[in-house]
Formats: sequence, structure tokens, C-alpha cells
Amino acid sequence: MIRTENLTKVYNGIKAVDTLNLTVDRGEIFGFLGPNGAGKSTTMLMLVGMIEPTSGACTINGIGTTEAPLAVKEIIGYLPEDVGFYGSLTAEENLDYFARFYGMDAAERRERIATLLELVHLDGVTQKAGEFSRGMKQRLGLAQALLNDPLVLFLDEPTSNLDPEGVLEYRELIARLAREGKTVFVSSHILSEVRQVCTSVGIIAQGRLVANGTLEEVRRELTRADADTVTIILETKEPLPPLDLPGVVSIEQNGNRAAIEASSDIRDGIASLLRERDMTVRELRLLEPTLEDIFLSAYRREA
Ligand SMILES: Nc1ncnc2c1ncn2[C@@H]1O[C@H](COP(=O)(O)OP(=O)(O)O)[C@@H](O)[C@H]1O
Ligand SMILES: [Mg+2]
Repeated sequence: MIRTENLTKVYNGIKAVDTLNLTVDRGEIFGFLGPNGAGKSTTMLMLVGMIEPTSGACTINGIGTTEAPLAVKEIIGYLPEDVGFYGSLTAEENLDYFARFYGMDAAERRERIATLLELVHLDGVTQKAGEFSRGMKQRLGLAQALLNDPLVLFLDEPTSNLDPEGVLEYRELIARLAREGKTVFVSSHILSEVRQVCTSVGIIAQGRLVANGTLEEVRRELTRADADTVTIILETKEPLPPLDLPGVVSIEQNGNRAAIEASSDIRDGIASLLRERDMTVRELRLLEPTLEDIFLSAYRREA
């Protein structure tokens, strides 16, 4: 549904997006993750046909965004990072203004707008958009992006600045849209905001794709790249003996507990050493890095 081929954007000699190759299938919720300045918004702007790539190409449902930007706009919805509305108009009036661009007649517009306002829980709100909270604006933005009932939805950091409840609500909305068959491309610099809802993710740092796939695939890929040492957590009942075993890189000890950094999984060696000394083991386990740990180190590695 979404495909980029060596997509590149250069600003003042700097590659904001660097030979990006991505594929997102129909019905997927794709999380585009990366730190600030990684190139997420620039990628999205090229995908929605708002800026032209320096080189490379992208297609939406087989349509080239540079060749046929208008045809692409008909099948996509886009929520930019900073969504702007007319502050003196209500939600309904704002949507009506945008709906006219899609050539819907008055009756069509009324029906579509009523459906969307209900979907984003803004039905019955009479305030002007200028008085909306950030969360309400984001929800109105989503309604706007959905006006033309798009096949593909692009959302640029839709949950930034939302409170936890707002994030949750947004997540549910996105999941619902995907169940209805839409493809969703959502960017974020915060892993936890997309990990529950995304079927696949791409990690971008410094314009380059660092990893791509399901969260599990990405975790495996990045862990491999990262795995020069492992951390083993050990707790014994009796005071810890000196652990001069091959493979130990460093030990951080706190009473009867220790975090052992080792060049490989040496738990068996540790267990037999403790057995020889007749010690009681309370805990002996590999410390699995969390997805957050892995992502952070992937970001750092690129930077
Ligand atoms: N219009 C522009 N002119 C010059 N540099 C830009 C422009 N837009 C983005 N950049 C630069 O490109 C890089 C990627 O930016 P952006 O795509 O906005 O990242 P993200 O959305 O991941 O935070 C940054 O270094 C940014 O400063
Ligand atoms: Mg951005």
C-alpha cells in the first residue's frame, strides 16, 4: 500500500532522509519511530506529496506521489504535526470548510461531518476551535484527515502533548480505523505510544532506517546488533563469594545482590561455583533488555 524506493531528501547538503526503503501493507498500522530530527516529518511530507524527493520515489497504492499528486491526495488523509484550524469557527464549521475541497455537496458534507464528529467524540461540542484543548484539536485533526474516507492515513506525532487518557483514546481510534481496513502510518518519537497499537514499526535515525518489521523482529535485530555483553542478575542467601570466572567483564554488587556483565551467558558456571560452596541461590537470571533499552541504544548508535 505504501512503498518507498531509495527515498532521499537533501536540505542544504544534509540528508534529512537517506535512501529509505520501506513497504507497508494494506490494513497495517505502521509505527514510524525515531528521535526528533530523525527525518520522520520529511518522509511523511514526501509520502503525501507535499514536498518532492531529491531522489528516489514513493508510491501509495501503486500511484507515484510525484507523478500523480492529486490522485494520491484523493486516497490519503494527512494529519500534520501542527494542525491548524480557524479559531473563530466550530468543529463542524471547520470540517465543512475543508470538506468543500473534496467537492461533496451540502447533504453529503452534513452526513459525513456528523459521523466523524461522533467518531472523534466532538459531537455536541459548541465551543469554537480557538478554545479547544490540545487533545480536542488533535481529534478534530483526525476527523479532518478522515473527511474523504481515505484508504491510507498519515498521522505525524498525533499523540505528542496529549495526556495519558488522550493517548489511550487516540490509540483506540487508530485500532478501530485499521479494523475497518484502513492503512495507518503513524510517527512518534515515543515507543510506548505506538507499541500497543502498531502491527509493524520502522526505526529511523539520522535519516536512515535502522530496523524494520514487527516489534519482535525489530527487537531481535537490534538486540543482535547490540549484544556484545549480557547482564546476569544474581542474589544469594549468604554473602556473595568472589566470582572470578572466565567471561566476567564487570560486577556491580549491592549486598547479596549483583549485576554481572559477562561476555556470554555464564549462568551455568555461576551456578556450579555456588553449588561447590553450598550456597543458596535466590535469583539467577539473564537481564533481558526492554524494548525501550534496545531502542535507546539503537538511537544512540546512529547518533
Ligand atoms: N524545510 C527544511 N529546511 C531545512 N532543513 C530541514 C527542513 N525540514 C527539516 N529539516 C531538517 O531535516 C532533518 C529532519 O527533520 P524532520 O523530518 O522534521 O525530523 P522529525 O520529524 O523526525 O523530527 C532535521 O535535521 C531538520 O532540521
Ligand atoms: Mg517531525
